[in-house]
Amino acid sequence: MPGRTAIGLDIGTSGVRAAELSYGRGGITLEKFGQVALPDGAVRDGEVVDRAAVVDALKTLWKGSGFTGKDVALGVSNQRVVVRQVDLPWMRSAELKSSLALQVQDYLPVAVEDCVLDFHVTEELHEGPTRSLRGLLVAAPREMVLANVHAVEAAGLRTRSVDLTPFAVLRSIGRPNADVATEALLDIGARVSNLVIHSGGQPRFVRILLMGGQDVTDAIAERMGVPSAIAESVKRGQVDDVPAEDLELARTAVDLMVEVFVDEIRSSLDYYGASNPGFPVERIVVSGGGSLLEGVLDRMATATRRPVVAGDSIGGYHLGRTGLDDHQLATVQPLAAVPIGLALGVIS
Ligand SMILES: Nc1ncnc2c1ncn2[C@@H]1O[C@H](COP(=O)(O)OP(=O)(O)OP(=O)(O)O)[C@@H](O)[C@H]1O
Ligand SMILES: [Mg+2]
Repeated sequence: MPGRTAIGLDIGTSGVRAAELSYGRGGITLEKFGQVALPDGAVRDGEVVDRAAVVDALKTLWKGSGFTGKDVALGVSNQRVVVRQVDLPWMRSAELKSSLALQVQDYLPVAVEDCVLDFHVTEELHEGPTRSLRGLLVAAPREMVLANVHAVEAAGLRTRSVDLTPFAVLRSIGRPNADVATEALLDIGARVSNLVIHSGGQPRFVRILLMGGQDVTDAIAERMGVPSAIAESVKRGQVDDVPAEDLELARTAVDLMVEVFVDEIRSSLDYYGASNPGFPVERIVVSGGGSLLEGVLDRMATATRRPVVAGDSIGGYHLGRTGLDDHQLATVQPLAAVPIGLALGVIS
């Protein structure tokens, strides 16, 4: 019998997706996973801009997927979210919560009252008699978070919690007991890619990049002079009657975009490495639809000189009546990382 359940909801550029987990003494079960595509422009750079379109997609998702509840854990991620390492004087967690706004204004480029704040303690520091807390400060613009929350509510759902998407990725594909001390996790989306570096499940560094698979598609569309939908099929290798010279154009476009992307990841790792010399990144684990682009993992491995592997977001759980066969599960695996990680946030 399923115990309690938690539903994670990811509102991405290309679609809305949700995963329902049940949990109890027998462990965690993936009960349901569903997704519904969004029209172009409904979500821009991680923000809901066409609420009606998102509401429609959410209603369709709930009608079609058989989720048992309406309470969701929602993810947010875009470049307006500030995530940075901050040291604060030591205090109890209740005090930290109540005084956070007062403590952190100096670290933020925007007014603290316009933000939703969170602080993840990563280390307690002891220097002589002084104790302090090192952690990651998260500040998300309130109106951006509310735009997502309002879309959820207009679809008849309730927001149980709001979480930073990179933390969801950490929960779902980060392996605290893995054979590496520190690893980078990278969820490559359509327009937003989330990078989080952790040691044993403890986040050390987060970067949200406005880049992803859609940039590759756009580059192909521009080079070949074709609509986005055709460029997307070409990118996925699903069109077999493309003239050789067009294919060459597409390949050049993909190569250039992948190079820009991989360079960005490399420089993020370099930046992290310079400020965290004691915790070098030993490997990169990827998820997200953008990670399915042929060759991208190899290119990243070469550029960063680290192994790059696909994350396993589903393998650790029992499977309920998801309605998905093995092939479908393999297909949704990279896409399930974020919603599963959001649901895990409710459980932990
Ligand atoms: N088989 C494939 N080969 C190459 N690219 C793929 C494949 N399948 C999906 N993609 C790409 O994955 C991207 C979408 O990834 P994902 O669904 O993780 O993004 P999203 O969560 O909707 O968007 P974002 O996180 O950017 O808001 C698209 O750019 C799409 O082209
Ligand atoms: Mg995404």
